[in-house]
Amino acid sequence: MREMKLGLFFAPGGHHLAAWRHPDAYPNGFSFQSYISAAQTAERGLFDMVFVADVFSLTPDGMRADSFRFEPITLLSALAVATSKIGLVATATTSFNEPYNVARKFASLDHISGGRAGWNIVTSSSPLEAFNFGLEEHLNHAERYRRAHEFVEVVRGLWDSWDDDAIAIDKTEGIFFDPAKMHMLNHKGAHYRVRGPLSLPRSPQGHPILVQAGSSEDGRNLAAEFAEVIFTIQRDLAEAQAFYADVKAKVAAFGRDPGHALIMPGVLPIVGRTRHEARDRYEQLQALIHPQAGLAALSRTLGTDLTGVDIDGPLPEIRSEKLSETRAMGMVETARRDGLTVRQVYERLVVSKGHRQVVGTAADIADTLQEWFEAGGADGYNIMPAMMPNGLTDFVELVVPELQRRGLYRRAYRGNTLRDHLGLPRPADLAAPVSREQATVRAR
Ligand SMILES: Cc1cc2nc3c(=O)[nH]c(=O)nc-3n(C[C@H](O)[C@H](O)[C@H](O)COP(=O)(O)O)c2cc1C
Repeated sequence: MREMKLGLFFAPGGHHLAAWRHPDAYPNGFSFQSYISAAQTAERGLFDMVFVADVFSLTPDGMRADSFRFEPITLLSALAVATSKIGLVATATTSFNEPYNVARKFASLDHISGGRAGWNIVTSSSPLEAFNFGLEEHLNHAERYRRAHEFVEVVRGLWDSWDDDAIAIDKTEGIFFDPAKMHMLNHKGAHYRVRGPLSLPRSPQGHPILVQAGSSEDGRNLAAEFAEVIFTIQRDLAEAQAFYADVKAKVAAFGRDPGHALIMPGVLPIVGRTRHEARDRYEQLQALIHPQAGLAALSRTLGTDLTGVDIDGPLPEIRSEKLSETRAMGMVETARRDGLTVRQVYERLVVSKGHRQVVGTAADIADTLQEWFEAGGADGYNIMPAMMPNGLTDFVELVVPELQRRGLYRRAYRGNTLRDHLGLPRPADLAAPVSREQATVRAR
């Protein structure tokens, strides 16, 4: 029986743009305690994983709850000891990191958590990040993805620095590891030169899970080659089916099993005990959107300063080169197609960062999750509670049991690692003697 996968996309202030202003929201969304309790609630709901997004910049308008964020690996290492089963997925960009550092951090998290780590590979969507890394402007899209391919190859190579049985402690002989089971990477490519080996044994999952989250053609190709989980923004079923079919075909074209690349669109649920209650909650949140915050969020998403535009007028012309993200292009298309005003664009699309919003009872929400799951639109979902903590608690207490009753979702964890939860195989040691120089150094 195929089971739906669920991830919790962390946002301690809630994923709805204005949720942090609601009286029931955490008084201080940015607190370690709020992350601990969210991770524990998701684990109670038997979620496959929690997921932390990351950017190296912030919107300086002072009107957003997600302005501040912990460094993801630091955060997840701490959460590893506050949880015991749930997968821990962090974002790390290939544009402003070195492969050796990334390989080491995720291998460490995999060891620390007993095999629960995952890496969300992004190429960085915010142009502001470049300013923190000595650059005057963002690297262009194609160049970012070229680096990303090589970056991921290097990271995977480093994770295979050691055979699984390389640690062979022999106190009498004074041998700690078997140098014959160590592999130098000796990578020399267009962007990176990395000798290796990694200063950590192979981690419990062999490789932490590789996740990818960009939907452009380049993004899909990166996903097809490497990703085991794919996060995506899909607002209607037909689009989701087209994306799903395209990515699975690309995965197969790389000689991989399409069943080993799980597609998980984001969903922002607003659950009520009745439809009326759910609608009421949604309206309350919409009423809390400060027009300036709505406009700022839209400006940021579209890469265009919209200060001073008439928010009840049509969306002005946006220069297409500003639309570096697939999600931004989709928003402009929808706005034009449906004749939306600026206010309607941010109210309908930007409040959930472009992700699908579903409002209703647990049965309504389970219906739509089931529909996409069974119709070739999704293997699972990245759940984005509109409000925290109640939006998550409602999902776990109302929607999860409904999915279980329908036989669509696990009733207990059946393993301990993220690979176990996702049903993904542990990669065999890729180190082949022909492609790797066997280490000749002898430990003394
Ligand atoms: C669910 C989801 C999460 C994402 N998280 C991040 C993130 O944490 N940091 C980031 O820089 N980009 C993030 N992105 C953006 C993409 O990784 C990518 O950089 C962006 O969409 C541009 O690539 P594309 O043109 O291939 O879509 C995320 C995208 C999605 C769909």
